[in-house]
Amino acid sequence: MVKAGRVPEHVAIIMDGNGRWARQRGLPRLAGHRAGVEAVKRTVEAAGKAGIRYLTLFAFSTENWKRPAREVKGLMKLLVHYAANELETLRSNNIRVRVIGDIYSLPEEVQEAVKKCERATKDNTGLTVILALNYGGKWDIVHACKKLCEKVARAEIRPEDVDEELLSKELATVGIPDPDLVIRTSGEKRISNFLLWQCAYSELWYTDVLWPDFGSKEMAQALMEFGRRHRRYGGLEKTRGRTYS
Ligand code: IPE
Ligand code: IPE
Ligand code: MG
Repeated sequence: MVKAGRVPEHVAIIMDGNGRWARQRGLPRLAGHRAGVEAVKRTVEAAGKAGIRYLTLFAFSTENWKRPAREVKGLMKLLVHYAANELETLRSNNIRVRVIGDIYSLPEEVQEAVKKCERATKDNTGLTVILALNYGGKWDIVHACKKLCEKVARAEIRPEDVDEELLSKELATVGIPDPDLVIRTSGEKRISNFLLWQCAYSELWYTDVLWPDFGSKEMAQALMEFGRRHRRYGGLEKTRGRTYS
């Protein structure tokens, strides 16, 4: 068990390896994505049980449009199904859904389905599940800069007022603490344009397990490892015996 007080408040996951999972079984890539949805359901449940407050899931990146149109279409369809089929479970489990990313460039039915989920769960007080859809860390930062420039142009702020706090407030993740732990499955060890600004001090944990095989066991391993990490934020180790927050 992970010691109380050491559970990360925010876990962010780069769900990778659906395609390889399918290829290993001689199945089309979309079968891997379908199995990936089952892993999402297991992981949401495991995160709630572990006492995690925020769970961000990287579901579609700003670069994933490069994939064949058929796969992109299939992924969008899965998103709509997930949002519609899981809404009741999410609602009854007191889960709040939030979406980050350039969602206005997504097909309308995806926008509607995820917005419905957000609206229907906005007053829930349990785990917050953040779906990163058409999300890119670079997009997020550029979008935030544009918002700041608009405020400068309207003379609401001066250029010299711009600091880390003001920029953070324009990011898609406003109000959400930075991820304490970032998990990536499938053995890849890169950020792939995920939460670039927000991951400045996140602990990173990688596993060779492919996303469709991810579940409570892997989540427990990641949390256990997180509990052993010493976060220094550029400072020095605290006196022995003291706990880290
Ligand atoms: C992750 O699995 C899902 C998305 C990026 C949408 P992949 O589809 O990237 O799986 P691999 O990397 O090809 O195995
Ligand atoms: C990252 O996975 C994006 C998501 C999980 C949504 P990719 O499979 O797209 O990343 P790369 O291309 O291997 O870096
Ligand atoms: Mg991949």
